[in-house]
Order: sequence, then structure tokens, then C-alpha cells
Amino acid sequence: MNKVVKKEFFSEKVVRLVVEAPLIARSRKAGNFVILRVGEKGERIPLTIASADAEKGTIDLVAQVVGVSTSKLADLEPGDYITDLVGPLGKPTHIENVGTILAAGGGVGVAPLLPIVEAFKKAGNRVITVLAARSKDLIILEDQMRQWSDELIVMTDDGSHGRKGLVTAGMEEILQREEVNECIVIGPAIMMKFAALLTEKYNVPTQASLNSIMVDGTGMCGACRVSVGGKTRFTCVDGPEFDAHHIDFDEMLMRLGGYREEEKEALERYHL
Ligand code: FES
Repeated sequence: MNKVVKKEFFSEKVVRLVVEAPLIARSRKAGNFVILRVGEKGERIPLTIASADAEKGTIDLVAQVVGVSTSKLADLEPGDYITDLVGPLGKPTHIENVGTILAAGGGVGVAPLLPIVEAFKKAGNRVITVLAARSKDLIILEDQMRQWSDELIVMTDDGSHGRKGLVTAGMEEILQREEVNECIVIGPAIMMKFAALLTEKYNVPTQASLNSIMVDGTGMCGACRVSVGGKTRFTCVDGPEFDAHHIDFDEMLMRLGGYREEEKEALERYHL
């Protein structure tokens, strides 16, 4: 059982929880994630660790409320307990000094991007970050990102904050302007698909961190499988990051939508 010590809402549907997990706080690396459950019969939710405080023994998790499980998580209050939480899982991000990094985060994907941006900056890279969301109230962690970025561009679909346009517009501006050595994108699958198509055009190696459906998180159940370069890979143990130019995003989008009706029904029941 892991105690929630702090909770704040970034927006109506995006919540940040600070959770006691001393061993994970000490050993996690950028790119690692955890899987947690709320309630004995709860669904297992994978969440990337946005940051950690090794001294206090806490980790920061950011979740977007999309269904019953994330609603239950967001309904927890400081002092409540998460039924179980395992991690750190997944392979950490490969961090080295490659020169200039372009980091692009969409929506709640900005949370897992934060520790990666921090790690690339600490490794001596020039880091240019593009944050994107539908509107101003959905842009999260802007100040924290600014702290670790040499340049920060904010894009909103409706122009309510930063510049008006999609994440790819902000990315292309940078790709046209200067040489970028590596790109990392995290966000909705559809956003990562188009970001990958863009960087392929500019021949920039790109990693995408995938948010597949997960069950066991140990490579046994196959729920998180994706096709990368024509091979089946498991996001939980082979990822979560893969070469974005070889991911079959269309297949992934189809699989992510596979339980949409059941999720809608369950959410309606939860709010009855
Ligand atoms: Fe089961 Fe990855 S979650 S194999």
C-alpha cells in the first residue's frame, strides 16, 4: 500500500499525485514507469514517473481522467492509499550528449517527458522543447519544463496560450531553422504518428514513448504488444520507447480503441 501525500489538479481532468514509494524514488530513471491499482479489483494503470524526491521517498505521478480507473485514482485524497504499485518498470531512456535534442510533448504526455528533458539537459545537450495541448488550461508543467529547456515553445490548437497550431508546426519551425540530432515525442498516439512522419522527412532519429494498454507489465500477457519494424514488441519490457519511424501507429491506434464502448459503459455506471 502506498500513501498519497499530496494531490493537485492541473486542470479539470489532469491530476498530479505525490505518492510514498521510497525504493522506487531512489532507483527510478528517466523513462521508467509504474503500474498501480486502486481497489482489490481495480484495473492496472501504467503511469510514467514524472519526478521523484529520493530524500522524501516520494514519486510524482500525473494522470488524465479518462475512465473509471483514472477517476478512482483522481478521487483519492492525501492520506488515502493506493492498493498496490509496482516499479520502476520498463527500460530507461538512453541518455547521452548528442548535441541538440528536440523534445515534443502533447497533453498529459508532457509529464513523462519532463524527467527525460531534465536528464538530456544534465547530460550537456541543448534542449528545445515544444509543449502542445488543445487549449491553455491543458498545458501542464510549463515552468518546470522551462527550467530544463534552452528554448520552450508552447502550441495550442485554439491559440489560447503560446502560438496557435499543432505540435508539428512548432517542431517544423525548429527543424527548418537548425540541425537537430535527436528527437523524443510523447503524447497521444495520433500526435506521435504525425510527429514521427515529420522528423522522418528531416531524417532526425526519433524515439516515441508508447502508452499501450497494460495488464501484468512483465512481458507475459501480451496486452501491450505493438509492431515495430514488422516485429511484435512488448511496450512494458522492450519499451516504452521505440524508434518512432518504425512503429505501426495505425495498428496501435486501433488496439487502443478496442475497449472504448466497455470503458464508456463502465464510466457511466461509476457516475450513477
Ligand atoms: Fe503484459 Fe506487457 S503488459 S506483456
